[in-house]
Amino acid sequence: MTYDLLIRNARVLDGTGAAPFRGDVAVCGERIVAIGDLGDAAARTLIDAGGRYLAPGFIDVHTHDDTNVIRTPAMLPKLSQGVTTVVVGNCGISASPVTLEDEVPDPMNLLGRVEDFRYPSFAAYAEAVDAATPSVNVAALVGHTSLRSQAMDDFARPAGNAEIDTMERLLRRALAEGALGLSSGLAYRNAFHAPTAEMTPLVAAVGEAGGVYTTHLRDEFAGLPGAMDEAFATARQGRVPLVISHLKCAGAGNWGGAPPALAKLEDAARGQRAHCDCYPYTAGSSTLDLGQVTDEIEITITWSEPHPEQARRPLKAIAEEWNLSLREAAERLQPAGAVYHNMSEDDMRRVLAHPLSMVGSDGLPNDPHPHPRLWGAFPRVLARYSRDLGLMPLAEAVRKMTSLSAANFDLVDRGEIREGAYADLTLFDLATLEDTADYATPVAPARGIELVVVNGTIAYRQGAATGERSGRMLRRTQRIANSLTPHSMEESP
Ligand code: ZN
Ligand code: CU
Repeated sequence: MTYDLLIRNARVLDGTGAAPFRGDVAVCGERIVAIGDLGDAAARTLIDAGGRYLAPGFIDVHTHDDTNVIRTPAMLPKLSQGVTTVVVGNCGISASPVTLEDEVPDPMNLLGRVEDFRYPSFAAYAEAVDAATPSVNVAALVGHTSLRSQAMDDFARPAGNAEIDTMERLLRRALAEGALGLSSGLAYRNAFHAPTAEMTPLVAAVGEAGGVYTTHLRDEFAGLPGAMDEAFATARQGRVPLVISHLKCAGAGNWGGAPPALAKLEDAARGQRAHCDCYPYTAGSSTLDLGQVTDEIEITITWSEPHPEQARRPLKAIAEEWNLSLREAAERLQPAGAVYHNMSEDDMRRVLAHPLSMVGSDGLPNDPHPHPRLWGAFPRVLARYSRDLGLMPLAEAVRKMTSLSAANFDLVDRGEIREGAYADLTLFDLATLEDTADYATPVAPARGIELVVVNGTIAYRQGAATGERSGRMLRRTQRIANSLTPHSMEESP
């Protein structure tokens, strides 16, 4: 038989966390059809891996690529890292089901301009993604703040019953049309006034549909433990698996908080399905939030609508030059974006290494001077944290970006190298692998990603996109409501 694609002589990391083995991987159409010693089988395209590592394509579980997969379908920041699937709609903000007329509420403005919000239904969004054929697969959450934007005229209060009904109707329809679940961003001012009681019926609708709930917690600073409790309770009541977004202990006064936070996550995971995602950096990035402006940490402005000339400068320097307080300067810069150096390296490493965490970039693709995680998160975990610092075995690092991610987001037949799975594959050279993006030069592709295959098609090879885009919308399959078995613990290696 002649295979469509045969990758010979690879060190195969199958995504499950198992140790790598030497072998060949054969693909026909979109699927992996054979693995092992395939001798000198014939193939239309033959790649000699030369002993380099072959892993399942990486799944970026935390992205804000909602409109970029349509507007910039080459998706180079992600493809060049070996990412083959992005989960969009995180932190409460999604491009659908949303239409906007004038202003874009914060932080929905991270996703695009007013004209980019034009998908009244999830189905319309999904069709637009398929029509754009991005280079990577796309799976999507519905954002709670996005639902609020369609149901409420004032964000600074809890939603009333009729408004909750409207949100629930929109959400149920999106779930039926293939949305993965719901995300929230309760720390942001346009969602902060939503009490737990506003979330409960929405999360319950997700549970009925068998979806997932992800949350940017209400508090990532001193109030982290309480915010985690809120998330666990909401998810438990709604009978839904939980993913805590970018788990962190933010603010200098809270450094050292990772061990108790992770113990809390482990505790919860004994009784319900609970995980988190994490990016391998000690700075966060988002819109410029007055609540986070402090002189305890370094804050760099990445963009400002009224003062574009201040981009790439420290807020402190701008404030001094303007003879204003930090807060006054931040007010004058609005709307704006920022990088906050607000975590400790030790806390971040503990979260990253924990068996319940997945890798998610949280990259901001529309920022003109983005946080380097947009182009570097995945290679950085493998090269810096696994290879150089030995924080975890390579197979475990890969598990956190493949099979664990696919299991938590219900991406069927993805995230593993096995016969019958989709041929989403990344071949990398561990010796040369390096994230080259940094805070000074954040727009820079990683080195060492040799080949990326998406749905059986070679999308990236030796540092360049091939131009063959073969990603698609991954609609959630209809399933009976999740059983609440706490299998998260037995997954741990
Ligand atoms: Zn977030
Ligand atoms: Cu995010």
